[in-house]
Amino acid sequence: MGKDHRKHAQPQTHVMASGYDPMLSEGSVVPPVFRTSTFVFRNCAEGKRAFELAYGLDPALPGEVSPLIYTRVNNPNVEIVEDRVTAWDATDNGVLFSSGMGAISCTCFGLLNPGDSLLFADPVYGGTEYLFRHVLPKFGMETATFPAGATEEEIIEIASGMKNLKMIFTETCANPTIILTDTRAVRNVADKIGESGPRPIVAVDNTFLGPIFCSPIKHGADLVIYSATKYIGGHSDLVAGLVLGPTELTAGLKAVRTIFGACPEPDTAWLIGRSLGTLKLRMTTQAESARLIADFLENDARVERVLYPGHASMSEDQRRIFEEQCSGAAAVISFHVQGGREQAYALLDNLQIFSLAVSLGGIESLAEHPFSMTHAEMTNELKMAAGITPNMVRISVGLEDTDDLINDLRRALDAMEAGAPSSYAQTTQSSVDIPTAAVTGDSA
Ligand SMILES: Cc1ncc(COP(=O)(O)O)c(C=O)c1O
Repeated sequence: MGKDHRKHAQPQTHVMASGYDPMLSEGSVVPPVFRTSTFVFRNCAEGKRAFELAYGLDPALPGEVSPLIYTRVNNPNVEIVEDRVTAWDATDNGVLFSSGMGAISCTCFGLLNPGDSLLFADPVYGGTEYLFRHVLPKFGMETATFPAGATEEEIIEIASGMKNLKMIFTETCANPTIILTDTRAVRNVADKIGESGPRPIVAVDNTFLGPIFCSPIKHGADLVIYSATKYIGGHSDLVAGLVLGPTELTAGLKAVRTIFGACPEPDTAWLIGRSLGTLKLRMTTQAESARLIADFLENDARVERVLYPGHASMSEDQRRIFEEQCSGAAAVISFHVQGGREQAYALLDNLQIFSLAVSLGGIESLAEHPFSMTHAEMTNELKMAAGITPNMVRISVGLEDTDDLINDLRRALDAMEAGAPSSYAQTTQSSVDIPTAAVTGDSA
């Protein structure tokens, strides 16, 4: 953002303008897509310097800009987005990845060593859970969990029993149980451990609340991670991830990204840049609609329980965290229908405006069944313990008309109640199906 009057601008202004000089691109208001795999050096000395900087072989001089090398290492479209997103949490750096899982994996492999351990709030997104439970241990990193929403005392009890605790990982709002984790309490735990050894890094996945409704660094997080596939991209047309944080933690992540090949395509980065300007508008409108939908669900007798940040049905402690650390609830609602998996499937199979699809945060409303979709790789026992029950449905509210969305849910609840046909019968005999009615909560 070269112009003086923009220096003290708000994040909304930064995300639309910084990191790009139109005069270097024929005056184009919107950055062009730099669709190239490699970049020309002026001479060998410039090429040598580019690699020294990219691989951290020699520190940059004050004001020195790293020359572009190769799109897996750096690309103007990626750098423009990385520059712009630092405004959200007033952080040093943003690092863009080819997916949210790329961001989380590179963060772990960049910052943890064999022998280190990681403590995470349970539940988390199914892919993250798989990485923590099944992949990191293969590389000598131990992992353990605490229940999302646990108190500082409960977390410290588990954390203090762990050897070489290097990272505490949480989702600010858990997928799919919508439990808020108290980031301040987690940071207090990290600080206490830090009194007698190295302080663990507090890394939080803020995908569900997004940068508009929660600024985790203000509440004690060191690193903020996003699946940019969700609200940040916002149009269900790309997959990307993002890590925000101070230079000492993020500088090495770019090198890991280069080696793991987790850099996004220039077209993807361009699409994200396009989406940044409308993020606040989209999230605010989606959240207004979601609140009305949560109220509708809360008042429908066929719904057992509604989970939505700060909503009436949440506990007093959850509402406290919401008031202290969130400025809005975003647009994902989970709810339990009366009944079991058969009823949840009947509802989902009879929706007409909500698409039956995983993912969230886009302008299109989506609905899914966490027990058999996003969290399928967890064991049934772990799912049940985390509150991911067979009668749970997760919806992401988009930008369609709110009344139309409510009517769609009402029609589907009517169909569920009337015992309308669903695909449930096709799944009960499946070899990957759920073993016992006791675990599934199935009524049949
Ligand atoms: C909370 C959360 N974090 C991370 C991810 C992974 O992101 P991606 O699908 O972009 O790899 C997801 C995906 O659903 C998610 O919901």
